[in-house]
Amino acid sequence: MRPHIRRLVIALWAVVVVAILGLAVRVYLAATDSGAMTTTTGAPLAPAIGGPFALVDHTGKPVTDADFRGKWMLIYFGYTYCPDVCPTSLTTMVDALDLLGEAGAKVVPVLISVDPERDTPVKLASYVSAFGPRVVGLTGTAEQVAAAAKAYRVYYAKAKPKAGDGEVYLMDHSSILYLVDPQGKFHQHFSSHQIDADGLARRLRGIL
Ligand code: NI
Repeated sequence: MRPHIRRLVIALWAVVVVAILGLAVRVYLAATDSGAMTTTTGAPLAPAIGGPFALVDHTGKPVTDADFRGKWMLIYFGYTYCPDVCPTSLTTMVDALDLLGEAGAKVVPVLISVDPERDTPVKLASYVSAFGPRVVGLTGTAEQVAAAAKAYRVYYAKAKPKAGDGEVYLMDHSSILYLVDPQGKFHQHFSSHQIDADGLARRLRGIL
């Protein structure tokens, strides 16, 4: 073969090999993708909610999800400046745990701030104490809070301040209670708008 024809043949083979490799990668990705959606028995998997977090508690101590192992967590994402929804949800959580008596002590109610800019540990400490001694307040850097919220698929965003409110802003945020088991696995969630203390206590009694 003349050198330039040989080069052409080699180039053509290279194209064929790359095409076959590309196809193989695509088939592999498609197979692993569909594998992730079902278990080996074909049952659909629950979407992954929760996971590790690294934050700072209301005493200023760095904490991770691992520090809560052995206890259930009832996690709520909110903020201390919230005028209505957050205080109502936290009251529901604490009242439900009170109703559970001794079993209530198995659960740590946790408020994770979606407003780390204003919710310093000191601010959180005075806020959570208003709900009794049970509630643990968590905050952190904007990045730490964003990572925790992402793990729990929590939506939050700064709302535009209304005219006359000056620098005071509200946060839009989802209002969901997440129950995490003593091994750190997400167990289930409750919509804070659809459950009161009695209802939550009843549901928790069936689980704990
Ligand atoms: Ni709120």
